Amino acid sequence: MPKFEPVLLKNLAVENIRTLKTYQSRGGYETARKVLTTMTPDAVIEQVKNSGLRGRGGAGFPCGMKWSFLPPNREITYLCVNADESEPGTFCNRVLMEEDPHQLLEGILISGFATRTTNAYIYMRVEFHEQFHILQKALDEAYAAGLFGKNIFGSPYSMNCYIHRGAGAYVCGEETGLIESLEGKRGWPRIKPPFPAIEGLFRRPTVVNNVETLCCVVHIFERGAEWFKSIGTEGSAGPKLFTVSGPVNKPGCFEAPLGLSCRDLIFGDDYGRGMKDGKKVKGCIPGGLSVGVLTESELDCKLDFDDVRKYGLLGLGTAGAIVIPHDADIRQVLANITRFYSSESCGQCTQCREGTNWAYKIALRIALGAGRMADLDLLEEITTNMGMMPGLSICGLPDGACYPIRTIVQKFRAEFEDHIRKQEPHRVETVLKRLNPATYELPILGVR
Ligand SMILES: Cc1cc2nc3c(=O)[nH]c(=O)nc-3n(C[C@H](O)[C@H](O)[C@H](O)COP(=O)(O)O)c2cc1C
Ligand code: SF4
Repeated sequence: MPKFEPVLLKNLAVENIRTLKTYQSRGGYETARKVLTTMTPDAVIEQVKNSGLRGRGGAGFPCGMKWSFLPPNREITYLCVNADESEPGTFCNRVLMEEDPHQLLEGILISGFATRTTNAYIYMRVEFHEQFHILQKALDEAYAAGLFGKNIFGSPYSMNCYIHRGAGAYVCGEETGLIESLEGKRGWPRIKPPFPAIEGLFRRPTVVNNVETLCCVVHIFERGAEWFKSIGTEGSAGPKLFTVSGPVNKPGCFEAPLGLSCRDLIFGDDYGRGMKDGKKVKGCIPGGLSVGVLTESELDCKLDFDDVRKYGLLGLGTAGAIVIPHDADIRQVLANITRFYSSESCGQCTQCREGTNWAYKIALRIALGAGRMADLDLLEEITTNMGMMPGLSICGLPDGACYPIRTIVQKFRAEFEDHIRKQEPHRVETVLKRLNPATYELPILGVR
């Protein structure tokens, strides 16, 4: 098999690549020039459809199809670039913006042209201080060179692009939470329909796309839809950025075809290079926190949009793998996970607000050594009845909460039961005394 040639990260080691001059010296913006001066927006959408590109932000929705939902007779279209990157364990958007900011801007140009975007807004979480300055500098340079603004490349097409910094909330990565936040309101997701393509930012037709999705667009036009489709697996086309964190020898961000196995991501010489200090793998959360967990024996799971479902996972997610070592206390892992969703639920929907909080209380009770066998059933029950899929919630946050909680309880049940059987209730008081009551006031209610 020919060795895979990275495209999204091809400029990683190039000196001064953040400058327009260096990016252009490597052919940068030539693809956008070709598209804007020789193609029609509809032909661009068609080519993206043919490439099989699916969104990289988590849901994997076909990109060209999303663009074609825009109503034909419209005067204003907004493109929201989702650079919130709020999913735990995920940092590939950060790498793209930090290492090759003009690649993203070129993707915005081509995608903006296809969707007849009038204004593009890059919505970036506030924690990305350095990345904000890098991207703003690149955008300023691109504007000064006439790459944004009026009549780009001498074509009739004009577009503005702005960077907007969010306040740093998980739910602001959800597309309608993002739109609300961009409008200056609290980042509360909206009930859908209407979907953003019909009524999005400022109630106008809007496309929301992830940073990596837009970077892929550049290469679809540089190398062709067929080339893109030839990479990956059936239904999961193209190169993908995978991140890996946890006690591996080489944590980081790597580019590979979709369908790379989780085992290869952790142990492969080109990727994580195996576990540190002789540790073994207990499990791996392979797609950002919200997809659920794989056990060691399931690591051959292919990381594409379909294979993951055979292992009870929500989906591919963001392909940000978090490796759990054999010596990690599974109760602490669960407590950590539930705490995240409980504090990030925006609170609009009762079952999400209360359900994530109940799950946290129960998980903490177990972690503190005061769990009951019935708590494991309770966690499974809560996480089966809460979520958008049964149509109960406004957004997908509770689905993302249910999968890691439920799969950890199901796949590591024997370990939890063992802990519960062996726990020493008299130690609970001691543990509780050491906790910060401001952070851990909830479990006290549950401890008997
Ligand atoms: C709670 C929640 C958080 C999300 N966070 C992000 C995020 O940080 N970045 C992102 O691109 N998509 C995120 N999404 C998915 C977006 O709603 C949306 O599907 C995505 O930005 C669409 O882009 P794509 O089609 O290019 O993948 C999130 C979804 C949910 C439910
Ligand atoms: S599902 Fe949860 S995070 Fe989403 S809108 Fe409802 S309360 Fe907020």
